[in-house]
Amino acid sequence: MTTTIPKAVSEKVGRNLHNQENHPIKIVKDRIFSFFKDCGGFRFPERLDPIVEVENNFDKLLIPSNHVSRSPSDTYYVSQDMSRVLRTHMTAEMVPLVTSGNYNYITCGDVYRKDAIDSTHYPVFHQIEGFMSQGNPSHGDISVEESLRIHLHGLIKHLFGDTVKYRFMEEKDHPECSFPFTYNSLEVEVTLTLPDGTEKAIEVLGAGTVQPRIMEACGLSGKSAWAFGMGLERLAMLFYGIPDIRLFWSTDHRFLSQFKEGDFSSKFQPFSSLPACYKDVAFWLGDKGKFTYNDFCNIIKEECEEDIVEEVILKDTFTNGKTGKVSECYRIVYRHPSRTLSNEEINTVQDNIRNRLEKELDVTLR
Ligand code: DAH
Repeated sequence: MTTTIPKAVSEKVGRNLHNQENHPIKIVKDRIFSFFKDCGGFRFPERLDPIVEVENNFDKLLIPSNHVSRSPSDTYYVSQDMSRVLRTHMTAEMVPLVTSGNYNYITCGDVYRKDAIDSTHYPVFHQIEGFMSQGNPSHGDISVEESLRIHLHGLIKHLFGDTVKYRFMEEKDHPECSFPFTYNSLEVEVTLTLPDGTEKAIEVLGAGTVQPRIMEACGLSGKSAWAFGMGLERLAMLFYGIPDIRLFWSTDHRFLSQFKEGDFSSKFQPFSSLPACYKDVAFWLGDKGKFTYNDFCNIIKEECEEDIVEEVILKDTFTNGKTGKVSECYRIVYRHPSRTLSNEEINTVQDNIRNRLEKELDVTLR
């Protein structure tokens, strides 16, 4: 069990891209906030410390004790007694925010998950979360379910335009669209036409009616509320045509100078396409079942001073008929987002990764 956090991840704590002027993450956040500012009645509190109690991140949200998201291969535990984590979603702030008097709020913050390494996944990203327990008087006497749907229809049109193609995937028809902390849950799927004419469907948010037991924990027994949560990186990548999620963390002016508050339609101009370097690593899995792809990616994160790995792809897997042993081969794609890497630098990192794989994840290198 590990409580160490890769430097590339820990140094992101406090960067708060969602509050950095003219940063694409802040521009998208502001656009969403402006919709709810126009609605009236919402507060916009922010809790900037991403270290939270496990209770608030999981237990009070009724996330079952055996849920995968609790596994140390998915979540960064930051205390030896496993009582605190880097929050894995902004829903972790629901109970603290409501119990401190925020009954209708929209919040935003950085969240952390161990994950794959590729162009759309990064262990730190940003989410917006909304909660409303006191109806908007201008909506009259409508149910929480209706209120949620009215707000979501408005938000999606505000973000994507009046003619956008989208649908609500309701939990009753799509059991996969459910969350432990809500009932009558749904996901919103937006279908966009890409510049090359093809269509792409993306899930932009999850939402539902908050479970009564959570309302109780919030001191609002007998009241009802809706909540929703959405990620910002994927939206910003789509709106601006940003090809690699690591670019959001760039301090290179060739990236940052391309975005201006309020300007929502400019397209990102790539400023470099440096050569990639591939390294394959193949190994037999041990029989203790210790190896996981996420832990492998986390070791890579820990061994890289900077974000020099673009992607980790499973290239090949087979089982030896005689021994029953499983072999896997992964390709690690090295490419710095803005500078050229030396062979020496890559070889050192690759050797360290290979050593730790054998030591920590019970595999035998081939
Ligand atoms: N916390 C969820 C996630 O990170 C998103 C979410 C879903 C938030 C439904 C909500 C909700 O408030 O009602 O995937």
